[in-house]
Amino acid sequence: MTFRTPIIAGNWKMNNTASEGVALVNAIKPLVERAVCEVVVCVPAIDIPAVAVALEGSNIRLGAQNVHFAAKGAYTGEISAAMLKEYGVRYVIIGHSERRQYFGETDETVNKRTKAALEAGISPIVCVGETLEQRETGKTQEVLDRQIAVGLQGIPDLAKIVIAYEPIWAIGTGRTATCEQAENTIHYIRKKCAELFGEEQAEAVRIQYGGSMNADNYRLLMSMPDIDGGLIGGASLKAADFSAIVNYDKGGMGGMKLSKDLL
Ligand code: PGA
Repeated sequence: MTFRTPIIAGNWKMNNTASEGVALVNAIKPLVERAVCEVVVCVPAIDIPAVAVALEGSNIRLGAQNVHFAAKGAYTGEISAAMLKEYGVRYVIIGHSERRQYFGETDETVNKRTKAALEAGISPIVCVGETLEQRETGKTQEVLDRQIAVGLQGIPDLAKIVIAYEPIWAIGTGRTATCEQAENTIHYIRKKCAELFGEEQAEAVRIQYGGSMNADNYRLLMSMPDIDGGLIGGASLKAADFSAIVNYDKGGMGGMKLSKDLL
């Protein structure tokens, strides 16, 4: 069995000015320094320079919430992968359901952004997930099939990306998927990746759960075999809650060894 390093990422969404963001990461830093997983904060673009400085020398990695697919040019308001890279951004969320719903993101643009991030050496966190209506009408697998086939089309190495499974009905609603629902669906996503990219790639890809994951419900979710971490919205805005999730201990596995692997 391939070992996949778990990854807990905070998605601040449109919260925290730069100074508030710095205060938050300064509060989080000492609470997560012994983490056995990878720790990421995905912050608003304008917070990146200040948060990058605040994170220097810590084990928290910097993430963004979107990236444009073009290298440069006439795209008013957009930000390129090279611009993120210059500030040490390591991860970028792509195709979050809020971007799909409010900003016209499609599986095709997700694919282009994913490729642009990878070319710049930034790891994409590609979001997939179904609406409540799609789940209730039995369309979950069909939706995921398309999001994966089109969104990840032509990606050479799935070990370099993270997939975040976020059922839309669970985002910001307080209605978490049960761990069986989350595990079964994530297992399905891995199976689909095996079908499209081969067993080895499917074993290597890290798949997070996202959607109302918090300090009360993370334990069971993190104990599931196919769940490799979480994309945390609301609970990532509070240092105590976020660090509690980061400091989960999946079956008490060898923390020392893992931390070293991450250096
Ligand atoms: P939530 O958001 O944890 O507030 O539900 C998760 C996300 O949208 O990434």
